[in-house]
Amino acid sequence: MTTYITTPIYYVNAQPHLGHAYTTIVADVYSRFRRLCGEDVRFQTGTDEHGDKIAEAALKEQVSPADYVDRISALYRESWPLLHVIPDTFIRTTDADHIKTVQRILQQVYDQGDIYFGEYSGLYCKGCERFLTEKELVGGNCPDHQRPPEPITEQNYFFRMSKYQQPLLDHIHAHPDFITPERYKNEVLSFLSEPLEDLCISRPTSRLTWGIALPFDPHFVTYVWFDALINYLTGIGYPDGESFHKYWAAAEHVIAKDILKPHAIYWPTMLLAMGLPLYQHLHVHGYWNVDETKMSKSIGNVVRPAELVAEYGVDTVRYFLMREMSFGLDSSFTSAKIVARKNSDLANDLGNLFSRSMAMLEKYTDSQVPAPGATEEPDESLQQMALQMLAQYHEDMGQFQFHRALQGVWELISHANKYIVVNEPWVLAKDPARQDRLQAVLYNLVECLRLLTLVLRPVMPQTSDKMAAGLGLNVDDPRIANFPQGALWGLSTAGTRLRITTPLFPRMDKPEREAGPAEAPGTPAPKTSSKKEKKKAAVAGIGVIGFSQFQQIDLRVAEVVHAERVLKSDRLLKLTVKAPEERTVVAGIAEYYAPEELIGCQVLIVANLQPVEIMGVQSQGMVLAAQTEVEGKKRLVLTTVSDLVPAGSKVA
Ligand code: MSP
Repeated sequence: MTTYITTPIYYVNAQPHLGHAYTTIVADVYSRFRRLCGEDVRFQTGTDEHGDKIAEAALKEQVSPADYVDRISALYRESWPLLHVIPDTFIRTTDADHIKTVQRILQQVYDQGDIYFGEYSGLYCKGCERFLTEKELVGGNCPDHQRPPEPITEQNYFFRMSKYQQPLLDHIHAHPDFITPERYKNEVLSFLSEPLEDLCISRPTSRLTWGIALPFDPHFVTYVWFDALINYLTGIGYPDGESFHKYWAAAEHVIAKDILKPHAIYWPTMLLAMGLPLYQHLHVHGYWNVDETKMSKSIGNVVRPAELVAEYGVDTVRYFLMREMSFGLDSSFTSAKIVARKNSDLANDLGNLFSRSMAMLEKYTDSQVPAPGATEEPDESLQQMALQMLAQYHEDMGQFQFHRALQGVWELISHANKYIVVNEPWVLAKDPARQDRLQAVLYNLVECLRLLTLVLRPVMPQTSDKMAAGLGLNVDDPRIANFPQGALWGLSTAGTRLRITTPLFPRMDKPEREAGPAEAPGTPAPKTSSKKEKKKAAVAGIGVIGFSQFQQIDLRVAEVVHAERVLKSDRLLKLTVKAPEERTVVAGIAEYYAPEELIGCQVLIVANLQPVEIMGVQSQGMVLAAQTEVEGKKRLVLTTVSDLVPAGSKVA
C-alpha cells in the first residue's frame, strides 16, 4: 500500500505561523501513522512563490523577488524540523523542473483546445489572487480580506473549466468521501449547482512579470493558482517519473477551508482536462483563531511555531494541536488551554501513569518485565479496553479524526491509572501469598505502556522514543513500531530490563496573565490601587493563625512532587509539595497511601500553620483529608480539586 500526502504550498509573503504549522503537523502525523501501518509514504510540502502578492512584498522590502522568495522559503523549510515534521519533498514553484512541468501542461491543454483567448471583466481580489463572483462578496467586500475587490477588464487566456463541470459532479457523487468532512463537500456541491464560469489563467506581463511565461504567448504569465496546483504533480516527477506512477493514484491533499474552491473545483477540472485520474481525497480543516480572534499581524496576535516549541516543548505542541481541534471545525488557541492540556493530559495522566508504573517496577521487580502471572477480573477489562482502543484508534486516525483517536487513548490511560488504585500493588507487595498477583498487575501495566508507546508514535515521536527506552525496547522494535504487528496484548517479554527515565512531562504553571499574580503566595505583592485589592494582597501567604479564626486560614492547592516514609513511623509520610514554592509537609496517611502514588497529585493544605517538628521532620503545613470509617476501621481520604489548577491556588 502507498500513500501520497500533501499540504498546501504556502505563500512566501508571510512567515510560518500556527495555521501553517497545524496543517503540516496533520500531514506529518498522518504520514507517520501510515508508516506505522507498514505503508510506503511520500509526504510533500513547499512554498508558492509567484504572483501579485509576492511581487508586492518584495517591492516593499526593496529586494528582487528572487532574493525575497529565497529568504522566506528557507524560513518555512527550517521551521518543519523544529516541529519534528519530516517531509520527503519540499517543492518551490520557482524550481526549474516545476516551471517546465507547468509549461508542458499548459501547452497540452492549449493544443487540445481547452485554453482560449478572450476578454474578461471581473472583480479581482489580490489577497485571494482570484476573481470573485458577486455572490461571494459580503457587504461588497471579500469575506476573507475585508476589502472590496478591484473591477478589472483585460484580455486574457481562459481554461474551459465549464466543460468539466458535469464530469466533476459525477465524480463527487460516485465517490462520497472525495471531499471530507461532509460539510465541505456540500459547500462544493452547492457551488456546482450554478453554471461554472471558465477560469482566467493568465496575467498580462504589462501588469505582472513575476510568474511562469505562457509557452504559447510570451506577453502573458501563468495565473498563480494554475501554476501552484501543479506542484502536486511536479513533486513526484510527472509525467515520466517512477514516483509519479507509484504515488499519484494514492494522493491525499490536506488544506484549510480558505482554499477549498481552488482545490475542489479548479484542480480536479484541470486534472480531467489533462486526462489524469483525480486525487483520492481532499481533507479540509477549519481555522485556528487566537484568543477567539482571527490571527493577524495588525492585531499582533500571530503565534509562531518556533516560539511555541521553545515555550512548551515539541510534543506538547503537536499533541495539543491534534487533540484540541476537531478536524473540520474552527478552534481557538490560548496559552491557558495548552498549559491545561500539558498539566492534565500529559503530566498528570500519561506522565503519572508512566512514572508511577516504572517506580513500582523498580521497587518490586528490580526493573525487569515480570512474568504475566495470575490474572483476575479487572485485568480483562483493562485488556479489553486496550484492544478496543487499538481498533478505534486505527479507524479514527485513518479518517483524520485525530482528536477522537487521542480521546480513546486517554480513556485507556485513565483506566490504567484506576487499575493501579483498584489493585493496590503496594498492598500486594506486603503479602507473600500474593506475589504472583503482583507480577500480573505489573505485567499488565507494562503491556499498557507498550501499547501507548505504539499509538502515541505518530503524534508524539519524541515521547514515544523516551517511553520505548524506559521499556527497554529499540525504537524500531515492531512491538512498538508496527501496527497491527505490535497491536496485540501480551507481547512484552518477561525478564526484559527496564530503564529509569526522567519524568515525561514537567508540569507548568499557568501563564501569569491567567493565573492572577495576587493569588500566588511567595510572589511579590502586585501594585494595586483599590482597597479591596490591597487587602487581598496582604492576606496572600502570610500570618500564623489558629483554627478558631477560620477566615484567616490560608488554604492552598499543593502539588506533591516527592513523597517518602518518615523513618521509624508506620503512620507518617514526608511530602514535598509545591504551593507554589516548595515546602515539606508531614501527613499521617502512610496506612492509606503509598508514596509513589501521590507524585503529581494535587491536594489541599493549610499553608499558614505554625511549622512544627514531627519525628525529626519540620512540617510546614497540614494536608487535608476526609476522615471516614470502613468496617469499623478509620480511613483517611485526601481532598483535592475537581479540575487541574496552578499549584498554590488559593482555596476560599
Ligand atoms: N499558496 C496557497 C496554497 C496553494 S496550494 C496549491 C495558499 N497559501 S497560504 O500561505 O495562504 O496557506 C493557506 C493554508 O495555510 C491554509 O489552507 C491552511 O492550510 C494554512 N492556514 C493558514 N492560516 C490558518 C489558520 N488560521 N488556521 C488553520 N490553518 C491555516 O493559500
